[in-house]
Amino acid sequence: MSVKTYLTEEHRQCDELYAKVEKLIQEDNWDNVLEAFDAFKKATLLHFKKEEDILFPAFEETTGIVMGPTQVMRMEHTQAKELIDRMEKAIKERNKNTFLSLGDTFMVLIQQHNMKEEQILYPMCDQHLIISDIIESMERL
Ligand SMILES: [Fe+2]
Ligand SMILES: [Fe+2]
Repeated sequence: MSVKTYLTEEHRQCDELYAKVEKLIQEDNWDNVLEAFDAFKKATLLHFKKEEDILFPAFEETTGIVMGPTQVMRMEHTQAKELIDRMEKAIKERNKNTFLSLGDTFMVLIQQHNMKEEQILYPMCDQHLIISDIIESMERL
């Protein structure tokens, strides 16, 4: 298993969890939105944590590239987390338009982010790092 395969699969799972939330909101099914949102939030934050706590430090240590792609990725995670907080607030206020607008912004940000990881960062990790140890550490989080 490569880092690219392992983490790209998580991107796909998070996309699916988000799609469920959006669908419930489109249908005004507010009673079930928060639970679906929690699943999306939990999966996304765990994915970020695997990258921030395990993958990025290993990449930085091995390549010596500290101020490069990993810094950009961390910054984008911060932006994504802020949007997730605002989306959660919009759900609690049952504010459909605000949620959908924040959700669109989130999806644009995260799709571009994921594409950079999948096309540039993960292949570099697969090339330079000892992958089995890294996946094992990520699984333990
Ligand atoms: Fe990321
Ligand atoms: Fe990622």
